[in-house]
Amino acid sequence: MRYLGVGGRQVSVVGLGTWQFGSKGWGWDRDFGPADAEAIVKRALELGITLFDTAEIYGGGRSERILGIALAERRSEAYVATKLWPTHTLRRQVIPALRRSLSRLGVERADLYQLHWPNPLVPLSWTMAGMRDARAAGLVDDVGVSNFGLARWRLADAALGSPVISNQVRYNLVQRTAERELIPFAQAEDRLILAYSPLAQGLLSGHYTPDRRPGGYRRANKLFLAENIRRVQPVLAVLREVADAHRVTSAQVALAWTVRQPRVAAIPGAKSVRQVEENAEASDIDLTAQEVEALDEAATAFKPVSRVKGLGELAKQIVTR
Ligand SMILES: NC(=O)c1ccc[n+]([C@@H]2O[C@H](COP(=O)([O-])OP(=O)(O)OC[C@H]3O[C@@H](n4cnc5c(N)ncnc54)[C@H](OP(=O)(O)O)[C@@H]3O)[C@@H](O)[C@H]2O)c1
Repeated sequence: MRYLGVGGRQVSVVGLGTWQFGSKGWGWDRDFGPADAEAIVKRALELGITLFDTAEIYGGGRSERILGIALAERRSEAYVATKLWPTHTLRRQVIPALRRSLSRLGVERADLYQLHWPNPLVPLSWTMAGMRDARAAGLVDDVGVSNFGLARWRLADAALGSPVISNQVRYNLVQRTAERELIPFAQAEDRLILAYSPLAQGLLSGHYTPDRRPGGYRRANKLFLAENIRRVQPVLAVLREVADAHRVTSAQVALAWTVRQPRVAAIPGAKSVRQVEENAEASDIDLTAQEVEALDEAATAFKPVSRVKGLGELAKQIVTR
């Protein structure tokens, strides 16, 4: 496992995202459950994963509770990041929301507290004042944001009065907006990009086909439209080729690609011990320049259709069937 320095701590470049824990939309209590979640977290720690991401919104607080129980006595080895939902962004709401998260996690202090999404109706200065209060009260070490563009990230810095150390954004081989401004900024300023959906929610594993699509939350993800699964096949073919050369899986190559950049850590979700084991190993895969180039070329040629076009396609199928 490789590590990155963050505010005096070392976090693993591959972490564990825990939206899956307690969320029916990810198959909780059907495909996997509490015993799996506990085993996943314990195995993650054994494999050197120190970065754990959760949020007050995940499973209505269940994710924080499950993570807290699973970390148990090894809590001090973990860098625990949770998130404030945008409905709690008034200054006076921040500490109470954080205290509720800490209580669910069973800890006295969080390592990183992130604003989950911008709330355009509440001035950032109010929310960041609340974050300052939380830090002054010793409830959190580092402050981060999520789903922020660069201009807003800089505004958050100014509002906090010190660097907002991280920005958690969607970043994977086929969704690369973060490369334009956010990753260069993080690298220049020694900040951290926490890449969410690094496997494009499982699409890059190659397990899904136009006839075998996941349900739940992923129904809302346009990448899983049948047409887009067809269109992404050339990317999956290159992933498979590179994976075969390294004797690893396509998902592992997709993760290795994501964390090859300085100041980027990925937080893949996992629903089994096997997945977390594979994901942890990915940090040690060294892709060659030619492999990265081949992956980039295939990914650049992938042009997904929008949901509206996807609906058109669905309507056509219904009419012709
Ligand atoms: N800040 C935000 O707004 C935001 C948004 C989204 C997510 N997040 C965070 O980021 C984390 C990860 O993002 P995500 O859950 O959206 O997507 P992801 O990590 O790209 O995909 C996770 C899914 O991929 C599959 N998978 C995981 N490891 C695998 C492996 N080794 N081989 C094959 N398949 C594998 C699993 O689903 P199947 O086995 O069912 O295919 C798993 O549930 C979340 O848990 C959450 O903590 C944050």
